[in-house]
Amino acid sequence: MSSPPPAAELHQVVKHYEEHGQRQVVLAGIDMVVHRGEMVAVVGRSGSGKSTLLNLIGALDEPSAGEIFIAGSSLNRLDETGRARLRRERIGFIFQFFNLIPTLTIAENLRLPLELNKLGAAAASDRAASWLDAIGLGHRAASFPETLSGGEQQRVAVVRALLHEPPLLLADEPTGNLDADTAASVLELLERLCRDSNSTLIIATHSNEQASRCDRLFHIDHGFLTEVMR
Ligand SMILES: Nc1ncnc2c1ncn2[C@@H]1O[C@H](COP(=O)(O)OP(=O)(O)OP(=O)(O)O)[C@@H](O)[C@H]1O
Ligand SMILES: [Mg+2]
Repeated sequence: MSSPPPAAELHQVVKHYEEHGQRQVVLAGIDMVVHRGEMVAVVGRSGSGKSTLLNLIGALDEPSAGEIFIAGSSLNRLDETGRARLRRERIGFIFQFFNLIPTLTIAENLRLPLELNKLGAAAASDRAASWLDAIGLGHRAASFPETLSGGEQQRVAVVRALLHEPPLLLADEPTGNLDADTAASVLELLERLCRDSNSTLIIATHSNEQASRCDRLFHIDHGFLTEVMR
């Protein structure tokens, strides 16, 4: 049997922006292979292109040149409908600012990705409730996000990103807004859920401590990505 394709593979990925007739090259030719089940950290100074890279891998944005494969499929071959489907079915996102939908309750926020993936309402409801219990927030199911603390909101956001069991999880400074203890507990949850479901995690972070917990570490600088061997 041939081995499964990498979770994500980048070939000479370039991203530049044009502003006021000036071209700014953010990613100058990135090669990267992330295998299934790996936890990978990407570090680099502010403005180095971490979010840009994650958004490209997650099909939220398109490269200026180069090619990205997710589980062996080229993103270049997908139209917007195909890209939306890939995001919905195969990818989970966690952002720095929680991004829970403010007008939906916690339980409704959790059910949304499941219902989008056509899990029946009753099954979605059950699964959301049991995960919420598992992170100690079962009693807040009917609350709205703004009434939760930052750490509680981010725990919900971690669960929401993983509830539909995406093979690839992208986390963009997921604890950037939290104090050190809360950040550690959110990261622990993220790590446990990823390892349990054998999901691949790519995390952009400024935290050395978070980076050190990952299997591999990449550094991004002046448009280039290098793996830091440890
Ligand atoms: N839509 C855009 N138009 C023009 N320039 C952009 C756009 N999006 C990002 N950039 C620029 O690309 C560069 C990389 O931005 P990016 O958000 O990827 O950095 P980052 O490494 O995530 O930084 P941070 O650690 O602050 O989040 C920055 O100089 C930014 O200003
Ligand atoms: Mg960023």
